Amino acid sequence: MSSPAARPARKAVIPVAGMGTRFLPATKAVPKELLPVVDRPALEYIVEEAARAGLPEVLMVTGRNKAAIEDFFDRTPELEAALEKKGDADRLAAVHASTELAHVHFVRQGEAKGLGHAVLQASAFVGDEPFAVLLGDDLIDARDHLLEHMLAVQAEHGGSVIALLDVGRENIDKYGAVAIEPGDHPVVDGDEVVRVTGLVEKPPVDEAPSSLAIIGRYVLSPTVFDVLRDTPPGRGGEIQLTDALATLVERGEPVHGVVFSGRRYDTGDRLDYLKAVIRLASERDDLGPPLRSWLHEFVADLPAEGASPS
Ligand code: UTP
Repeated sequence: MSSPAARPARKAVIPVAGMGTRFLPATKAVPKELLPVVDRPALEYIVEEAARAGLPEVLMVTGRNKAAIEDFFDRTPELEAALEKKGDADRLAAVHASTELAHVHFVRQGEAKGLGHAVLQASAFVGDEPFAVLLGDDLIDARDHLLEHMLAVQAEHGGSVIALLDVGRENIDKYGAVAIEPGDHPVVDGDEVVRVTGLVEKPPVDEAPSSLAIIGRYVLSPTVFDVLRDTPPGRGGEIQLTDALATLVERGEPVHGVVFSGRRYDTGDRLDYLKAVIRLASERDDLGPPLRSWLHEFVADLPAEGASPS
């Protein structure tokens, strides 16, 4: 048998077939993964992250109403010709960028039966090697290197690796939660590495094993596909990836967690989306200076919480 380190993950799977109900009505016709974070779709940042981590083969699991995603990663000869004629090199480069980031492939989920079911659609593409999963609405700041850490942990320990975030006990019922092995944990570049001993999807607050939530990055062993095929619908009637990972743990396969200490935005959540746009725009060279000075004035005029704006 080859050692785990001999087979590093090379492929990324990005599930984008969810219905995006939290962002309706905007997401009735526009996939939430294409909502602009400043001037680029959230999904472009995510494909960029996969490519940066050394995963140039990307499979998107799409569904109905998601055709715009395929268009975004395709060439647009008419638009490119028009920009070229105008001599608009910057915009031409921006339009090209999405098609050059990675080799992007597509498969359809058919019916949105849950994240586990979406990941299962990637089995033929992935084959028998470890692979990464990046959720299409979960944005990790480009200055933080969560996925690279996770790939290194997977190469060292084998098995599967999940990204964790301490969301506080009061919020854990919105997430998959984990139990971890107690004791001291090694820290790699600020992120703690833990051994996961149990997983449960959206537990009631008083039953949660910890305040550590699963966030949208995974490096998975291909054994997860066999488990997913036999995983029945769970929480919300959906086939849950969390349940399949819980089965892997029960079978004694190693599952590690990397507790993320950096910046993360859930762009499928309206408030987090707004925070992502403001923060990333305020840090840009072009938009940052005028936005920051406007923000200072705006904040100074804000009424205290509870009072209504004039
Ligand atoms: P979410 O639960 O955040 O997506 O799934 P959702 O169902 O679209 O969101 P809301 O709650 O209705 O607003 C996490 C990721 O898994 C994908 C989503 O596209 C998202 O990237 N997903 C979810 C699928 O691809 N298929 C599914 O059946 C469910």
